[in-house]
Amino acid sequence: MKLLLLGSGGREHALAWKLVQSPLVTSLVVAPGNPGIAALPRAECVVLDPTKSGPVVELARSRAIDLVVVGPEAPLVAGVGDALRSAGFDVFGPDAAGARIEGSKAFAKEIMQAAGVPTAKFEVFTEAEAAARRALEWGPVVVKADGLAAGKGVVVATSGAEAAEACRELAKIPGGKQILLEDVLTGPELSVMALCDGERWVLLAPSQDHKRVFEGDTGPNTGGMGAYAPANFLSAAQLEEIGRTVIGPTLRELARRGANFKGALYAGLMLTPSGPKVLEFNARLGDPETQVLMMQLDEDLVPLLRDCARGTLQARALKQRAGFSVGIVLAAAGYPESPRTGAEISASVPRDDQQLFHAGTKSVDGKLVTSGGRVMTACAFGSTIGAARESALALAKSVTWEGRHFRADIGAKAP
Ligand code: AMP
Ligand code: GLY
Repeated sequence: MKLLLLGSGGREHALAWKLVQSPLVTSLVVAPGNPGIAALPRAECVVLDPTKSGPVVELARSRAIDLVVVGPEAPLVAGVGDALRSAGFDVFGPDAAGARIEGSKAFAKEIMQAAGVPTAKFEVFTEAEAAARRALEWGPVVVKADGLAAGKGVVVATSGAEAAEACRELAKIPGGKQILLEDVLTGPELSVMALCDGERWVLLAPSQDHKRVFEGDTGPNTGGMGAYAPANFLSAAQLEEIGRTVIGPTLRELARRGANFKGALYAGLMLTPSGPKVLEFNARLGDPETQVLMMQLDEDLVPLLRDCARGTLQARALKQRAGFSVGIVLAAAGYPESPRTGAEISASVPRDDQQLFHAGTKSVDGKLVTSGGRVMTACAFGSTIGAARESALALAKSVTWEGRHFRADIGAKAP
């Protein structure tokens, strides 16, 4: 099979690494990819904006692509999946109507309410001042901008006054035309991702991300500073329950509204004292969760994604390696506020069961330099969470550039 993968981050490098291991794959084109992906066997990176439907369809045609895998949300929200499907291609990635579950938090809440999915009590506002008045009455409350905000659209306010201020601030950002207020939930957070064919789904291992930039979950929010899987504080029965009470009803409600959800449905959950509740949905796989999930998955990814794209998925439990994977994000100086790029990277060669996935890297005059905030993810598999952590840490320390920083406590909360 000839595959096309859209995206350029650590998630895409991990997907590409897993895809080219499949005996079904003869070639993998990645647009635009990154230097880590370009070094994989059978992979080729093509400079192209993955959010532009016309050029993406053209590329898929010219390379006679059998399956397109969409990594990030931007092409999905822009309708690239729809354009490819209209042109006759099999696509792993929902249509724009399905991707709205990530693009609009108000829409996601509407779906959850209609589907009876457990989530925090909420109200939606179209005027910042009305939201601010309600926030003052509410007291401690979570304030969210409706639209995509790259992790900067949520404030967990500890008082009504702080929340009211957050309503005014969030109303100024591009995603802030609508403001949501919702109850503050408590409990450990986890990510559950399902590969879906529109009706049926299979669950990847539950994982835990670390969103704050500094150790001990302090500092500003980021896209994610590291993850581990499986998040084994969740029992197999609880995972099954999340499939039944969250993933299934959400897919059915989306389908009822005419969405074609053939792709990854990501539920960001909190395990509250009264059971798992959904904080957010994404219409794609998580980053950095995917990096560790690809190291855990003990079967060929290609038939799974192909069956999702074709609507022929068999609901079943996936084969996972017995052990743990830990991924530590290596970030550029100044990340997340103002990452400094252009620093020369010195990287060692990973050992067996270690992987160094690239994200914000580029090749300049034969040298590898930083080109984004999250630069790489240092991943390792181990038979215990302790062994996986130790190995990932050793790999993280062996990769250096000026100002690189990472959290040494990824996975420390795992039981
Ligand atoms: P979101 O983008 O909706 O996942 O929110 C980003 C982060 O804000 C989450 O990872 C949580 O840590 C926090 N958060 C969001 N919603 C709530 C909530 N209802 N209660 C407590 N914390 C929340
Ligand atoms: N790691 C969080 C996300 O992918 O949205």
